[in-house]
Amino acid sequence: MSYFLLSVLHILGVLFLFTALGATLMHVLNGGTKEDNPWKKPLSIIHGVSLLVILLAGLGILIAWGIKPSQFEGWVWAKIVIWAFFGAAIVLPYKVPQSAKLLMFLLPLIGGLAVFLAVYKPF
Ligand code: HEM
Repeated sequence: MSYFLLSVLHILGVLFLFTALGATLMHVLNGGTKEDNPWKKPLSIIHGVSLLVILLAGLGILIAWGIKPSQFEGWVWAKIVIWAFFGAAIVLPYKVPQSAKLLMFLLPLIGGLAVFLAVYKPF
């Protein structure tokens, strides 16, 4: 698969990820819980599939560049940590509803950090 197609898939995954996270946050901000969320299952599927697509496309780009895991630079590992955080981020508002307001701003900022790392590759 080409670098361009993998990049499009990678970003498409990010867009779907934020749909799932945003919809979950909005449910909790409106006073909802995990149990009474009628979209619980579709949102968790969108969240899981989009994370998988982000990871596979991200790794696919590196493979297309001929970079092995032992050669990953710091920015790649930092993005993998951010990816893992986004994996946990769907349960955070359910577990700590008071965090939902903060997460509305924090999640896009952390997403922006992942974009910064990909564009500038600072380390
Ligand atoms: C949820 C977290 C992530 C977000 C929000 C994100 C976002 C992005 C965006 C927007 C780009 C496009 C930048 C550009 O075209 O200039 C990009 C590129 C890239 N990302 Fe991610 N990414 C994430 C996770 C990952 C992970 C986990 C990996 C590695 C396993 C990864 C590897 C890459 C690579 C290799 C590129 C290509 C950089 C380039 O074209 O120079 N990303 N990412």
